[in-house]
Amino acid sequence: MAVETSVTCAVFGLGKLGASFAAVLGAAGLPVVGVDVDSRVVDAINRGEAPIQEPGLQDAMTRAGDRLRATTNAAEAVHSADLSFVIVPTPSDESGRFVNAYVARALDGIGQALATTDRYHVVSITSTVMPGAMDTELAPTLIGASGRAMGANLGFCYNPTFIALGSVIQNLTRPDLVLIGESDSRAGDLVEGVHRRIFETDPAVRHMNWANAEIAKIAINTFVTTKISFANMLGELCERTPGADVAAVTEAVGDDHRIGHAYLRGATAYGGPCFPRDNVALARAASDVGVEATLAEATDRVNRRQADRLAHIVERDCPPGGTVAILGLAYKPQTNVLDESPALTLAARLIDGGHRVLGFDPMVGVDAVPELPAFEITRRIEDCVDAADAVVVTTPSPEFAALPELARSAGRNPVVIDCWRLFPEATPGVRVVHPGRGTDPKDQPRPAVSARS
Ligand SMILES: NC(=O)c1ccc[n+]([C@@H]2O[C@H](COP(=O)([O-])OP(=O)(O)OC[C@H]3O[C@@H](n4cnc5c(N)ncnc54)[C@H](O)[C@@H]3O)[C@@H](O)[C@H]2O)c1
Repeated sequence: MAVETSVTCAVFGLGKLGASFAAVLGAAGLPVVGVDVDSRVVDAINRGEAPIQEPGLQDAMTRAGDRLRATTNAAEAVHSADLSFVIVPTPSDESGRFVNAYVARALDGIGQALATTDRYHVVSITSTVMPGAMDTELAPTLIGASGRAMGANLGFCYNPTFIALGSVIQNLTRPDLVLIGESDSRAGDLVEGVHRRIFETDPAVRHMNWANAEIAKIAINTFVTTKISFANMLGELCERTPGADVAAVTEAVGDDHRIGHAYLRGATAYGGPCFPRDNVALARAASDVGVEATLAEATDRVNRRQADRLAHIVERDCPPGGTVAILGLAYKPQTNVLDESPALTLAARLIDGGHRVLGFDPMVGVDAVPELPAFEITRRIEDCVDAADAVVVTTPSPEFAALPELARSAGRNPVVIDCWRLFPEATPGVRVVHPGRGTDPKDQPRPAVSARS
């Protein structure tokens, strides 16, 4: 359905996801008022400056122009809007459940503003929440603060998005799926209409109840993490099987259309702000209702052992005291986000093991990891490579293509543990090791063969 041009959106939470979402809505021609409790973020948006690093965000903000503004005043935003999106943090607690405190606070502010008018308004939660949270916690909070009944002049939706940092704008405008858990179809249709304004493709749009959308959101990410851990488990198997290579195996496995190639690659552990948390949350949601989430738990276990696996490969070629350079510190290319980054877990493990560890990432500043003071982050890739006995490439950033040439000019002949297969094994000037590759059978000691066998 097409959204009327008069719809104004409020976006609560202008962080890694919310700033891009607000900018994309504005760029698509919708009036948007962003709300954040952090006045620095609000001021940046009002100056027309991207508050965070994300490819395409500045351009989207420029295209949004005067249609996008920001405020710290929740009531003012709600009074000028028809639809409020809530995209505030939902950190995980120790048990792996998402904590709703920030969402509840935002809903309280929105509800209090709604209590002073009776104009129809839809509130849509984009933040990731636990199954059951909309019904048992968030809807009562909104109803309590607004004094409204669900359905008459109030709609309430759960509308999570599927984005990866570094490609947020593209993921928002070219999604595979838009998931809308709705209190009623009028509310869900309004949310769909807003999304339709930003699509550049024709994705599936699924309307359902809150519980189904809550489970579907974390199920999708958990399925993807399962594929990653499955590929990494195959990598472990191939590493110990003479002649085997995980790249050849996963390429063949992914050719089966029931499986597919996406995320089926033996490389590093998954990290970032969503995959690890969503996987653990699904397991927690299942155990909360007495279901054994064996698959999700195994996926997490395989993921957690990847740092040790990689460290063992490093230790084989670079004994304690040696210098290891890690290229790729964020959890993926094109972002500076370090949450659950495989590189940081590896760095901590190697420092504990007595190595000097240097690191470089084109997106990450030298002071980004204060919690690991022995980890020396350098400004230039050369500063890392020039000193390294071993180099571990943990993300497939195009900037690392210069590594063999830099190593050659430094005259160090380091071992390069190339998790993403950026370099062929026979690259001059470096000794490339591909994790997930077993030794060549001709390098194996042959078992004694009896005359009869
Ligand atoms: N970042 C991702 O890759 C991603 C992907 C999918 C889903 N999500 C979900 O989206 C939500 C937001 O994630 P994020 O990474 O953008 O978080 P973030 O920490 O980058 O940004 C959140 C913003 O919300 C603001 N905020 C906090 N309380 C507020 C309030 N009461 N009113 C207004 N603003 C408030 C903060 O100041 C901050 O600017 C989380 O639930 C997360 O799980 C994130």
